Parts: sequence; structure tokens; C-alpha cells
Amino acid sequence: MRADKLIAASGMGSRKEIKELFRKKRVMVDGKIMTDPSIHVDPEKSCVEVDGKKIGYKPYIYLMMNKPAGYISATEDDYTQTVIDLLPQEYMHYAPSPVGRLDKDTEGLLLLTNDGELAHRLLSPKKLVPKVYQAVVAHGVSENDILAFRKGIYIKEDDFTTMPGDLKVVKDDTHPLCEVKIFEGKFHQVKRMFEKTGNKVLYLERVCFAGLELDKNLKRGEFRELNLKEEQKIKSIGDMKNEKS
Ligand code: URA
Repeated sequence: MRADKLIAASGMGSRKEIKELFRKKRVMVDGKIMTDPSIHVDPEKSCVEVDGKKIGYKPYIYLMMNKPAGYISATEDDYTQTVIDLLPQEYMHYAPSPVGRLDKDTEGLLLLTNDGELAHRLLSPKKLVPKVYQAVVAHGVSENDILAFRKGIYIKEDDFTTMPGDLKVVKDDTHPLCEVKIFEGKFHQVKRMFEKTGNKVLYLERVCFAGLELDKNLKRGEFRELNLKEEQKIKSIGDMKNEKS
């Protein structure tokens, strides 16, 4: 690939700024100063340095965000702020997208990546990707509600029955705090499951997605890159053994 493209992919600035690096003789390829930005290099084998610092080529980015309320899970919108607006400029050249959606008022773990193939797998209903939510609900939760979640809930408006979900009461209160584990991601799914049991979600946060746990050190609106172990974990979701027949 072109050397200037490789440098751009590491977030070192715009194409114009990178051209300038070449012009100022700040770029070396395999120990030789290069002034031509269009020179071709092997991303795996060539040693590309800027100011003596080796540039590693990374085509994909995997980010964990603690989504705050008030942002929509989209890449752009004419009226509302999107989760992409929370990322600094240096990540824009990767063109990351949210993997699935959290409602505008839902907070918590949102994965963003430019790895379209992985995103597709994580969103496939066949992969049974687990999602865990904490929900504060308006009314008490009964044994019958727990059984209804376990059986799957019929959503008349869309004529479908949800897959079995796991509902637990974490803290019984005037407005109980519940934990819900589901394996699909239909529109407003958790809110609608509670609605069908005569309840109402007052607050919703996703705490786990695809085996990842929301990093408690991330404040609302903050993000970080996944570590290698986390990256391997989400990539293993494509294993056939996870697949629904
Ligand atoms: N279920 C919902 O109702 N909303 C979300 O944002 C996620 C799951």
C-alpha cells in the first residue's frame, strides 16, 4: 500500500499534513529517507518511521464506549448528537460505526468498530450474542413476570415471540432494580418485554455485550480501545458452537 495511506491509517494527520512530513524529510522507509508520499510499502514487512518512531499498521479499531443518554446510536444525524460526536478527530479516519443500537435514553456499553464483518456476526440473531441490561422499573416484579421472560414474551404489534430471557430482581424497592439477559436485539426489546408484563422501564443501562463487561473506569461519554483479550473474546463469537441451528 501507499506509504502516505499507511501513515494516515495510524492517525498521524490529514493527507495534506502527511505529504508535508515527506517534504520535510521526516519519513523513513527501511532506514532510508523518503520524499515521495506515493511510494509503496509492505504493511507487514516494511519498517516505516516518522521522526524515528515506528508506525504500526492497524486497519481495524474496536472501541468500548459508556454511552450517555441524549445521544443516538448512528454515525450522523441532522438534528441530534450521535455517539460518533463523542469521539476525537484522530479516530475519524477509521470511520467507526456503532454495533447495533441503544435507544437515545439508554446508557452503557456500546461497541464501535470499522470491522464490518465482525459487526455483522455480532448482530446476527443466529449467533445468540448475550446482552445484559440493568433496568429500574416502575412496579414490583412477580414470579410470574420472571417466568414470562423465561418463556419468551409475545409482542402482538410485531407478531413475534421473544427468545427466552433471564429476569432477576437485584434490589427490591419502590422502583425495583432488575437485571435482564437476552440473546437478541429487537427494537426497544427490554422496554417492550416489561411493558407486556404491565411494567415500565424508567431507566436502562447495558452492562454486558458479547461477553464484554462495561469498564467501570469509563465515565459516561468516555471510551477506550478494547484490549487484546477483549478483542479475541468478541471475535470468538463467530464460533459455530454459539450458533442457533
Ligand atoms: N432494549 C431497549 O428497550 N432499549 C435499548 O436501548 C436496548 C434494549
